[in-house]
Amino acid sequence: MSRKYTPFILLLLFAMFLAACGGDADEPEATDGGDTAAETESTDTEEAMDDEEAMDEEMAQAVEVFSWWTGGGEAAGLEAMIGVFAEQYPDIAFENAAVAGGAGTNARAVLATRLQAGDAPDSWQGHAGQELIGTYVAADQLEPVNFLFEENGWLDVMPETLIPLISQDGNIYSVPVNIHRANVLWYNPTVLADNDIEAPTSLDDWFAAMDALQAAGMDAPLAMGEQWTALHLFETVLLASLGPDAYEALWDGSGDWGAAEVTAALEDFAKVLTYTNSDASALTWQDASQLVVNGDAAFNVMGDWAEGYFREIGFEPNDGYGWAAVPGTGGNFQFLSDSFVLPKGAPHRDAAIAWLTVAGSIEGQDAFNPVKGSIPARSDADRSLYGDYLLSAMDDWASDRVVGSLTHGVVANDAWKSEIDTALGLFLADGNIEGFQSALVTACSTAGPCQ
Ligand code: GAL
Repeated sequence: MSRKYTPFILLLLFAMFLAACGGDADEPEATDGGDTAAETESTDTEEAMDDEEAMDEEMAQAVEVFSWWTGGGEAAGLEAMIGVFAEQYPDIAFENAAVAGGAGTNARAVLATRLQAGDAPDSWQGHAGQELIGTYVAADQLEPVNFLFEENGWLDVMPETLIPLISQDGNIYSVPVNIHRANVLWYNPTVLADNDIEAPTSLDDWFAAMDALQAAGMDAPLAMGEQWTALHLFETVLLASLGPDAYEALWDGSGDWGAAEVTAALEDFAKVLTYTNSDASALTWQDASQLVVNGDAAFNVMGDWAEGYFREIGFEPNDGYGWAAVPGTGGNFQFLSDSFVLPKGAPHRDAAIAWLTVAGSIEGQDAFNPVKGSIPARSDADRSLYGDYLLSAMDDWASDRVVGSLTHGVVANDAWKSEIDTALGLFLADGNIEGFQSALVTACSTAGPCQ
């Protein structure tokens, strides 16, 4: 190579090197011989900042909502409400952080870990009552949402019975999306008709019906699932056996867990358990409900989310499934309410408020509840959207005596409920009524209002 061309070739190589460093051929500064290293660095920084801004922008337009509605009618209900949200807030991405497991048994553990780590979702599903007030509000984790109630006129349409259960010291801490009924006896109408059995209304009628079914060859006429469904059954039998006054007294501290009438209720519960399937602990609530519509069991006691499930899997009311109050609880509506909260320090507070606005709106509730199998918390719902069962539940809610559910957060805070659940677990294993009752007495004095 001639020496004459060497400087020119070097210059050319240098220019190629600059181009390879990411300089844009259209940008004069990439080739103008200035301080190239510094310029390359500043281009990278600008790009990184752009990315960050884009990410921030994207994150500001997202809302992470936590629940345990992942299947069996529940996910479909949530999807329906997400649909309303998407129409009203098309710029906010919905991040569904639902964790599987009925009654939130898994989800609530995951949520607790996240809250402890300072990693709160933007909103989560919590039950009205002691779960909300005695757990999240007590731990100072929530922002009051009175402003939403005022702006949206919700105090005029939300049930008066519910407001005190989501309030403390004049502050309202959640937005109720529904009312569920816990004390429902689901039955298979064909199985009952084939065995000349009427839907039972008292515990004794129920026992007689299940004796007859067992005599006819159905070993386990009452379908039950994993432990929380046993707790659910337990609270309904307590109500049936004690009646609403004595039932409520147990939760407000004026009743005596050691009383003879509680012993009698535990005996009733022990008898009810003799009719259940031996593989209960391996079944989800959906599995247990399914045994009824399949005709493998005659009865199941479950909240009315079971109705959402029956419909989702294609069964018709009064044909595939029938319903009645749990025997002995007629005239009482043992309720719970799913509600959404605004955590302190919600990562996307505005988006969380948008979600809460939909959850409290008539559009949101009328999309969610007919599918979920619950009645709207609002009193101004469009009845024409609801099926036979839910219409009957609306009427009962308006006329029955309303008492709260234990399993679903109304009457006891998490600490007390968890002690009761531990006592129940032992009882399911050993069948010792005396031991169960004394553990319940202890639970009320260590974690409940009996101190
Ligand atoms: C309850 C909840 C209902 C339903 C049910 C079964 O705790 O309030 O909405 O999800 O669990 O998973």
